[in-house]
Amino acid sequence: MIPLTGYTDRLSAAPGERIAFKISSAAAGPYRASLARVVLADPNPAGPGVKMEDLAHRFSIERPSRAQPLALGSYARVDAVAALPTGGPLTVVALVWPTLAAPREQCVASRWDEPTGAGWALSLGPGGVTARVGVPGAAPLALATGRTLTLRRWHRIWLVVDPDANVLRVGQAEPDGGGRLERSTPLPPSARPGAPAPVLLGGRLAGTVGEHFNGKLEDPMLLAVAATAPEAIVLDPLLPPAGLLAGWDFSRGIDGLDVVDVGPHGLGGRLVNLPTRAVTGARWSGREMCWRHAPREYAAIHFHEDDVHDAGWATDFEFTVPEDLRSGVYVMRLAAEGHGDDLPFYVRPPRGRPGADVLFIASTYTYQAYANHARGSTDAAYRERVAAWGAYPHNPDDHPDYGRSTYNRHRDGSGVCYSSRLRPVLTFRPRYLTFFDARGSGMRHFSADTHLLDWLETQGIGYDVVTDEDLEAEGAALLAPYAIVLTGSHPEYHTARTLDAHAGYLAGGGRLVYLGGNGFYWRIARSPVVPGVIEVRRAEGGIRSWDAQVGEYYHALDGNYGGLWRRNGRPPQQLVGVGFSAQGPFESSYYRRQPGADDPRAAWIMAGVKDAVIGDFGLSGGGAAGFELDRADPLLGTPAGAVVLASSEGYGPAFMTVPEELLSHISTVTGEKPARMLRADMTYVELPGGGAVFAVGSITFCGSLSHERYDNNVSRILRNVLDRFRARRA
Ligand SMILES: [Fe+2]
Repeated sequence: MIPLTGYTDRLSAAPGERIAFKISSAAAGPYRASLARVVLADPNPAGPGVKMEDLAHRFSIERPSRAQPLALGSYARVDAVAALPTGGPLTVVALVWPTLAAPREQCVASRWDEPTGAGWALSLGPGGVTARVGVPGAAPLALATGRTLTLRRWHRIWLVVDPDANVLRVGQAEPDGGGRLERSTPLPPSARPGAPAPVLLGGRLAGTVGEHFNGKLEDPMLLAVAATAPEAIVLDPLLPPAGLLAGWDFSRGIDGLDVVDVGPHGLGGRLVNLPTRAVTGARWSGREMCWRHAPREYAAIHFHEDDVHDAGWATDFEFTVPEDLRSGVYVMRLAAEGHGDDLPFYVRPPRGRPGADVLFIASTYTYQAYANHARGSTDAAYRERVAAWGAYPHNPDDHPDYGRSTYNRHRDGSGVCYSSRLRPVLTFRPRYLTFFDARGSGMRHFSADTHLLDWLETQGIGYDVVTDEDLEAEGAALLAPYAIVLTGSHPEYHTARTLDAHAGYLAGGGRLVYLGGNGFYWRIARSPVVPGVIEVRRAEGGIRSWDAQVGEYYHALDGNYGGLWRRNGRPPQQLVGVGFSAQGPFESSYYRRQPGADDPRAAWIMAGVKDAVIGDFGLSGGGAAGFELDRADPLLGTPAGAVVLASSEGYGPAFMTVPEELLSHISTVTGEKPARMLRADMTYVELPGGGAVFAVGSITFCGSLSHERYDNNVSRILRNVLDRFRARRA
């Protein structure tokens, strides 16, 4: 674990509102926390350097250190078990679809009381399906089938305690009863299967919860009989099996964290650490692709040993935003015994009282999608640079202990479809380097977006800041007071509500400056009953780090079809004129001026810029047009009358046309040649009602703003746009 780190309960707050800080410090003595405002978080010595406004005089506090643990791994916990007998016959049966062959037990269901050594557990392990029964004062009695289950196939497994025959049985079969295998062993008189303990599904309680199961689990049941044919037991609430004590039907409440028992005692439970719901179950036929249409075909939950939701750390202190603190990007700086960390948060303007006519939307949904993205990119060159530049020292490559991002896979190979911000997020830190960038700083997201903040400060342009979550909550009304709304470098992840907010702002005459690439791309889901979490299903198409399984394209959290917004009828070109077209390594090229630069509608954008080549410099990949590129395309919704002022060029063979465009190696959805699609289009769109969009079509644009002491053609273009948009509003 990192010696000193933490997270906040919320990402933004207005003056008068409080943010709670949850800190883990392994230091012996106290740690110090103090306020600072972030202007520029790029430690590259070739650039302007890190700029932080120290505000320790506004807030500084000392707190005793305490380490707070973070336990990964999902399971369901059923505490209300008083109705369950602790003696007599018992059958435990479940359907499982294992996904990870591990050299340890993976517990599917258990009721275990470690202090007394009593209990039962049904698990998968190197010896096959294992049944364990507690024997107080001795090692548990364990019995395995001796045959491991085939990964990614459904099986029914069981454990039977038969006190009349004095045997313990364990078995497995395919769902149709084939491949049946059962073993039995005498039950010693000292065995104590009954335990006054909670039931766990997907793990075993032994002090902490361990032995996490990796895979899908469906219809776990407890029966007060010693069943002779457990493979034939079916969970049907209308025709309950004989002796049913509890049967959890995971097809109920798929959009929440509760698990529902359809048995006689109603032993409902709660999911911990957010396993994946809305996944195909043992009954899935392919007849329906949406869990809402055939819930019993989606009666499984996929558990992972590395799932994480809310770290659940106790609050160390709270910070109340002072009434006079300007809107902006802030950090709480932590320091103790040579260790330090900076926890970012956002101060909004006072509610209903904008402090500027320019608004920056921090792409916090995107930051969250990438939270703790382990890329395997920390080679020697990267580490040397981090040390030499004094960059953020920790990297998710070294810290699986804080959970992964939606760009990673779980240890069992399945994609990570949830990301929580209620945990330390190492990628969400000032001075965090994503790549070793031979020609620049190699920053993305939170840190990369400070290139824009720094430029605004040097230009003397005041700005307010809000987050995606603020936009989600308040919609277009939050944007309406502003003459200009600025995105960051990569506003990629959106809900319908955040898209609606942008669209509503533009429809009301607003002016949006889209300063990134690959924006407005993925659809995400959120839910009020699953706080701090976004869900993404990497369905069908797009540049994907993993692919959602067939039949699992609908979000659990809101029931909507996931994947690209383009495949949900809202391609980014409709909203902002340009949309994702090409991607390559973190390298950048330049734009070449196009005839649109002289179009009377847009010529003012190029005022003072005579160059044919624009942005062949910068701190992100060495140029203004690189890495992820968007193009204008009327067939995908770029509004009529859009003007392309400049297009980028000069990409090597490592750049590729995005897969959702390709029909074959030579043809594309919209008819342009694939090679032609390797470009960013700097585009200006005027909308009916006075609204307008200026889009740069490149993720690396803002890295070029500071070149030559902020005096360059990229900076000039952005300045022209902001000056005009502000003047027109006035
Ligand atoms: Fe992205």
